[in-house]
Amino acid sequence: MENRLQNKVLLLTGAGGGIGRAIAETLARQQMKIILFGGNNLENLEKTRAAAAGYTGVEVLPGDLTDPDFLTAGIEKAAAVFGGIDVLINNAGVAQSTPFENVTAAEFDRIMNINFKVPFFLTQQAIGHLKHSDYATIINIASVVGHAGYPLQSVYTASKHALMGFTKSIAREYFRDKIRVHAICPGGVYTDMVKISRPDLSPEGMIQPEDIASIVLFLLQHRGNAVIDEILVHRVNKEPFSV
Ligand SMILES: NC(=O)c1ccc[n+]([C@@H]2O[C@H](COP(=O)([O-])OP(=O)(O)OC[C@H]3O[C@@H](n4cnc5c(N)ncnc54)[C@H](OP(=O)(O)O)[C@@H]3O)[C@@H](O)[C@H]2O)c1
Repeated sequence: MENRLQNKVLLLTGAGGGIGRAIAETLARQQMKIILFGGNNLENLEKTRAAAAGYTGVEVLPGDLTDPDFLTAGIEKAAAVFGGIDVLINNAGVAQSTPFENVTAAEFDRIMNINFKVPFFLTQQAIGHLKHSDYATIINIASVVGHAGYPLQSVYTASKHALMGFTKSIAREYFRDKIRVHAICPGGVYTDMVKISRPDLSPEGMIQPEDIASIVLFLLQHRGNAVIDEILVHRVNKEPFSV
């Protein structure tokens, strides 16, 4: 079977670990060319590069995604590396575990910034490049908290609701340009994020980062007439909308 993903260019955020690293490894096996975009921990990004490097071209462009100058200059650099952008995956995110009454303006800004403002403006920067692609796809990694509310996660929940609203809007704005826009909304995935923010969750039976990566692969390989807008992912032994 023809591998239509071969040599397509992926711009991926949050690739230093967890879900991002699993996505990079999975799509590298499909011979995609991958740019690990943004991130503050160079050692983690290099581990992801090493995991993906045996298959295809991988480039690391580290930096703080919340820095507008990095976004603007970074996207042009990224597009120049492999000659365009076919797929954008907005995956970087930060969690929260704070009683509502203790949320500071600084914490509010940090979470809204990385979880919502960054995907918004990174997508805006990337859209011109995506319009030139015959495989243009945007995948936003949202969360079950994009649908439901959770205690101690007031800002995180609001940020993922905002991300969902933005995703739905641009899906309608750009369907005539043949840009496919999807959201994946996982429940608890066993990564550093969940280990820190939800220490009450036991790893037993939790969703693994590779589960999310295989859903990303399915979305990218499924190019039929039926477009999938949103995938809600929950544990087999839990009710929907729960972690
Ligand atoms: N784990 C879950 O249960 C779960 C469930 C639903 C949705 N999600 C979503 O899935 C995505 C990935 O989460 P994960 O569980 O894989 O978490 P993770 O292992 O903590 O990874 C988060 C990534 O985001 C990057 N990041 C954070 N702030 C950044 C910034 N200012 N600039 C650049 N990069 C930044 C981190 O890079 P550095 O370490 O280099 O800063 C890291 O690579 C997030 O959007 C999260 O909300 C996770």
